[in-house]
Amino acid sequence: MSKRLDKLLALVGKCEVLADVGCDHGYVGIEALRTGKARRVLFVDVSGLSLDKARANCPQEFADRARFVCRDGLGDLKADCAVIAGMGGLEIISILDRAQFPPPYLVLQPNRNPREVRDRLCEGYDITYDGMTSDGKIFYNMIVAERSDKTSDLSLLEREFGKTNLYCPTEDFRLYLNKERAKLTKILSGCSDPKVSDRLALVERALSAVGGQQ
Ligand SMILES: C[S@@+](CC[C@H](N)C(=O)[O-])C[C@H]1O[C@@H](n2cnc3c(N)ncnc32)[C@H](O)[C@@H]1O
Repeated sequence: MSKRLDKLLALVGKCEVLADVGCDHGYVGIEALRTGKARRVLFVDVSGLSLDKARANCPQEFADRARFVCRDGLGDLKADCAVIAGMGGLEIISILDRAQFPPPYLVLQPNRNPREVRDRLCEGYDITYDGMTSDGKIFYNMIVAERSDKTSDLSLLEREFGKTNLYCPTEDFRLYLNKERAKLTKILSGCSDPKVSDRLALVERALSAVGGQQ
């Protein structure tokens, strides 16, 4: 397993039924069965070919605790935890919006639009972890959320970067901010774009909040 997949698995709590939505190879669900984190796993993928990979990778010893479902999102599936990782944030939001039984515990890793995912989670969920992991090249946002009756409110910086990143910053997060600042500064040296300037201002604010200026 890669560092990214190891971290996703570490964020999954012990559960009765885990849904690995967009499972593809199925590694997270399979490891959850192997380590005893999940009693049963629903491997879900919209692509039959992807689901076949999970089916082929899943050891026979777990056959009676694994179910393979070819579908778009959760639909009417019930799970106490769902991992939805490695896809765009807007797709993750769409899956949550369409779920008939939204799982009480979510582990999400949006490849894009993490801010929109955080905004969506403010309705009905409490974000309990929101950090960043890197394999050296790519930076991955990982968000854990637990169902809550309260609506939460995030500050501008929290929406943009995540609470765990801001209040318990890792070297991965500081590295991300410095790379982002260098990238945006380079873009602005060739043109003036208010959106890029605004983003750079937010990155600078986050850098001073985490004491990460290089
Ligand atoms: C890049 S793979 C990520 C695999 C794995 N979750 C990971 O993080 O390594 C994305 C998978 O999500 C599936 N997928 C995308 N949208 C989906 C949806 N709405 N419902 C179910 N599966 C979906 C794709 O078919 C693909 O297999």
